[in-house]
Amino acid sequence: MKFFVDTADVAAIAELNELGIIDGVTTNPSLILKSGRDITEVTREICAIVDGPVSAEVVALDAPAMIEEGRKLAQIAPNITIKLPLTWEGLKACKALSSEGHMINVTLCFSANQALLAAKAGASFISPFIGRLDDINLDGMELIQDIRTIYDNYDFSTEILAASIRTVNHVTEAARIGADVMTAPPEVIHKLAQHPLTDKGLDAFMKDWEKTGQNIV
Ligand code: E4P
Repeated sequence: MKFFVDTADVAAIAELNELGIIDGVTTNPSLILKSGRDITEVTREICAIVDGPVSAEVVALDAPAMIEEGRKLAQIAPNITIKLPLTWEGLKACKALSSEGHMINVTLCFSANQALLAAKAGASFISPFIGRLDDINLDGMELIQDIRTIYDNYDFSTEILAASIRTVNHVTEAARIGADVMTAPPEVIHKLAQHPLTDKGLDAFMKDWEKTGQNIV
């Protein structure tokens, strides 16, 4: 499973990237707002840190303007993935921009039929939003499973990018189902390493080690 980090926080991205566990980055207009940075500047910095796909989202609502914005964003760096919303206009822009050879991440996907359309329009990634479905008492994981089945039935090459990941259990479940990628905030990625029995075990080892009176170096 590929790990993308869902943030526009350059320091957090650099720290995770150094560990070698980050395969890409996703941003959106809300994350750009949170960063307090200029979209072009911050996206360029992110693209220089991470080799893999970096999603940058258009904000236009009609296809011709989305295409224009997408082309502009793609000029930032070769690893830009143009992020388009899953609307009819977004699908038109997806078809046009993917035909030009750009990587496309179709975002705000909440149904299997939407995912089917995105794959047919040439999306490189489809982003089903797990957490936002869970927020309204629907099952985000059921959607990931449905898309996995449908894409496998027809050999679509569009990668399933499990998005809106809020918990470590979301990561486990998405991996179990076979999502190709997951994108999560840095805090959730850090939590993947935590376990109370690891802390407890380490504490006991440290106490016993102290009693030996030894040093390794
Ligand atoms: C993905 O590309 C989105 O940026 C993100 O996962 C949305 O997550 P949220 O629902 O927690 O805002």
